[in-house]
Amino acid sequence: MINHRLSRRDFMQRTAAAAGTAAAGKIIVLDPEPGYGVAPAAPPSDTLRLGIIGIGMQGNGLLRGAITHPGVECVAACDLYDGRHDLAREIVGKDIPVTRRYQDLLDNKEIDVIINATPDHWHRRIVVDCCNSGKDVYSEKPMTHGVSEGFEMIEAAQKNSRIVQIGSQRASSIVFAKAKELIDNGAIGEIHTVEGMMGRNSPDGAWQYPPPPDLSPDNLDWDTWLGTTPKIPFNPIRFARWRCWQAYGSGVAGDLMVHLLTGIHYVCGITQPPERALSTGGIFRFHDGRDVPDVHHVLYDYEKFPVIIKLNLTCEYRESTKFYGTGGLLEITGGELTMTTQDGTDHGTGGYATSFPRALREEYARKWHLENDDRLSKIGTESVTFRPPTGYDDGWSHMQNFLDAARSRKPVIEDAVFGNNTAIACHMANASYFRKSIVRWDGTAREMRV
Ligand SMILES: NC(=O)c1ccc[n+]([C@@H]2O[C@H](COP(=O)([O-])OP(=O)(O)OC[C@H]3O[C@@H](n4cnc5c(N)ncnc54)[C@H](O)[C@@H]3O)[C@@H](O)[C@H]2O)c1
Repeated sequence: MINHRLSRRDFMQRTAAAAGTAAAGKIIVLDPEPGYGVAPAAPPSDTLRLGIIGIGMQGNGLLRGAITHPGVECVAACDLYDGRHDLAREIVGKDIPVTRRYQDLLDNKEIDVIINATPDHWHRRIVVDCCNSGKDVYSEKPMTHGVSEGFEMIEAAQKNSRIVQIGSQRASSIVFAKAKELIDNGAIGEIHTVEGMMGRNSPDGAWQYPPPPDLSPDNLDWDTWLGTTPKIPFNPIRFARWRCWQAYGSGVAGDLMVHLLTGIHYVCGITQPPERALSTGGIFRFHDGRDVPDVHHVLYDYEKFPVIIKLNLTCEYRESTKFYGTGGLLEITGGELTMTTQDGTDHGTGGYATSFPRALREEYARKWHLENDDRLSKIGTESVTFRPPTGYDDGWSHMQNFLDAARSRKPVIEDAVFGNNTAIACHMANASYFRKSIVRWDGTAREMRV
């Protein structure tokens, strides 16, 4: 049983123990993990040879980051759009081999690890093919585009003993790790509600991205880009803004909510999809032909507590996750964590006693103070903020976690089982929105039920 009534002394001791040196009401700058951001020369035998598939908005950043890690060399790149072959070479600074066929990377015996930063509708096939070809893979979130895909991906990883890291970087964040440590230590008591929210308010934030100016069927393999989705003529808007359509993306759920859920699953040690989901929302601002909502709110039932998620593309709100505990509130907003304790007791005689006639009221107050004043003098609430160092990038930590696992063969922080659970939660949110109904998770059948 967690003791959720922290005395001031307990709180000071716990945060001090947790932080190394802490003071209530103060700001504590967290230390990144050893080796963070340092790029010492790795022994050549330890060098991991990297191939990347998909060098778009996310892939280009991943590639720029990956080659700054110790002992990583990018030896090949793949994209269906030739402009991104040039981009990959610009980033790597060498004439690495480039291709439109990702199978060329899988056939390349030189390559140890793959980054897959393709749109959602390509994740399953590429991850399964990577595993079957003996490659470890860092694959972007959401792990899947549909519920059935995840189990196939898990099986491929397990059967081939491959490392699969899903790219929701909150799982490797030092800020979320601190939240986990505090919560595991009982610093905010028992958690009965978790809330996540995020808002954007700009066309770019709502995915109205500009297609590359030269994009054409001559420099893009459009047919392959479509994959198994319905065949349509070349469409640069779909290429750049694929998130707007269910055929390729997973809405704000798969794009943004998955980050919130990853943080929540990680901090609270959740290892299953939610039991139920109920969504509401709509397309309120971006009437641009999209078929996914720009406002999407979800209520989840998890085994131990409800989770409330609020997402919108119509009003800016910094990414925020709040853990409501019987011993206080722990909030991660804008990348920093603030914990404010509550002692959960009465601090005064309360409002109800004001309804007593004076004599009774005064006697009640006298007794109350006699019984409680000593206790009140010993308790107090405290607030402490934990902040990462300036410029801290949880994406770097997440990639390093993958690279470490590829070398050591120890598990990653966000394996395919983890990624599948959060992806299922996103699919439940979408199914509930589109079917206007509560959606349940049937873990035995591995299916959603309406
Ligand atoms: N972790 C994060 O914070 C984060 C941020 C942004 C995007 N993402 C994820 O990254 C993925 C990519 O998103 P994006 O914004 O970079 O998309 P994008 O459209 O900018 O880039 C995707 C690239 O993949 C290429 N591609 C598509 N199918 C391919 C295939 N079969 N073979 C080779 N190349 C192929 C496309 O030509 C394109 O260049 C998505 O899953 C997205 O959810 C993650």
